[in-house]
Amino acid sequence: MHVHRFERLWLVGALTLIVLFIGTVTYGAVGAGYGMVDATGGEVDQTNPTASDNFREPGVYNGSEPNHYDVYIEAVQFAFVPGTSEPIRLPANSTVTFHVTSGDVVHGFEVVGTNINTMAVPGQVATVTVEFDEPGEYGLVCNEYCGSGHHTMEGSLDVVP
Ligand code: CUA
Repeated sequence: MHVHRFERLWLVGALTLIVLFIGTVTYGAVGAGYGMVDATGGEVDQTNPTASDNFREPGVYNGSEPNHYDVYIEAVQFAFVPGTSEPIRLPANSTVTFHVTSGDVVHGFEVVGTNINTMAVPGQVATVTVEFDEPGEYGLVCNEYCGSGHHTMEGSLDVVP
């Protein structure tokens, strides 16, 4: 069978593209994509995060320096602990490090109106540090679908004078 030279060229080009696409998808799934989960705060026992050295009983703690606070947040279906049953209260002009993990499934943790937005993954702790200069009230929302009550999963954070 005779295949025209240009036809063969196009065949080779198309096959090369297909191989590249499959390679890209595979690399994204098991290669680079695998490391994208934010575990900056280390790993924890996902069935009992507070028992780990990398996590504490959920709440607000004084940090190592004045005006520095550490907030440990456990996301569960369908609440932030703390944050949902009562607001997280922090003073203005403070530097705050959030340590976020999940007690069940994957959740999101966004402080609305700021650039704080991370995933809460069982077994992993995401940390994010931010400065609150001005007093204000912020909403907390979950950005990852986590079950039937996902749309009700919210909380609040009050930065007080
Ligand atoms: Cu938690 Cu959606």
